[in-house]
Amino acid sequence: MPSQRRASDVSWSSYRDSIGDRSGLFEGLVDRWPVDCALYLGSYVDLSPSVAIAAVTYVDVDRRAARFFADAQRVAADLQGRARPGAATEVKFLDADFTAPLAVAARSVDLIISLFTGPCWDECERYLRAGGLFLANASHGDASLAALDARLTLVAAATHRDGVYRWNTHDLDRYLVPKKPAAAEVEAIRAAGRGIAYTRPAFAYLFRYEPEPAPAPAPAPAPAPV
Ligand SMILES: C[S@@+](CC[C@H](N)C(=O)[O-])C[C@H]1O[C@@H](n2cnc3c(N)ncnc32)[C@H](O)[C@@H]1O
Repeated sequence: MPSQRRASDVSWSSYRDSIGDRSGLFEGLVDRWPVDCALYLGSYVDLSPSVAIAAVTYVDVDRRAARFFADAQRVAADLQGRARPGAATEVKFLDADFTAPLAVAARSVDLIISLFTGPCWDECERYLRAGGLFLANASHGDASLAALDARLTLVAAATHRDGVYRWNTHDLDRYLVPKKPAAAEVEAIRAAGRGIAYTRPAFAYLFRYEPEPAPAPAPAPAPAPV
């Protein structure tokens, strides 16, 4: 029987040939910061989070991504022998624009992923639980917007060299230092849909989210009169 697949059909394995394998990025993340449930915005066909995370919802408007995720056998074949025990128990795809409301419960996910897409932080922070994580890079602006959002704290920076991803949690104040401080302006970044340049760039940045900033410590009580 002739194959129903089109020559143009993509899969994670073919996409890995162009972007490389990001499995190590997510394995290293989950080793340090336990994550059960993630939302990957603008995922295209990058299945790498499912190698390490139990439940991942992928979101994209690209028809090729929709075709790939609709083919459960192909998705399973791509993950075969790669997913860790306990990972990839749920692989969902939303054929949706992430700038519109998604069929995802508010404050329900442990991790939001924005790599080479967006910006999507403003529209999608509502899905991230308090204490959850936002993984973003600077290409389309999300890491730059995150760096200016008081509800987010940088907890790690990921570097990528010779196909190996590493998570750095030390000296984080060396990261996200703008080359041009005047460029670090929310409206300008949103309007441009581009991140700004940093003195020490990283592949991606991991932020912890606290929607309600911790209240300032109460002033020390006045000394009792003597
Ligand atoms: C450059 S690709 C990056 C894919 C993947 N995140 C990666 O890092 O390899 C950007 C993806 O974001 C998707 N995208 C852009 N805007 C979107 C939107 N508003 N809603 C959903 N997907 C979107 C595009 O369709 C495309 O597949």
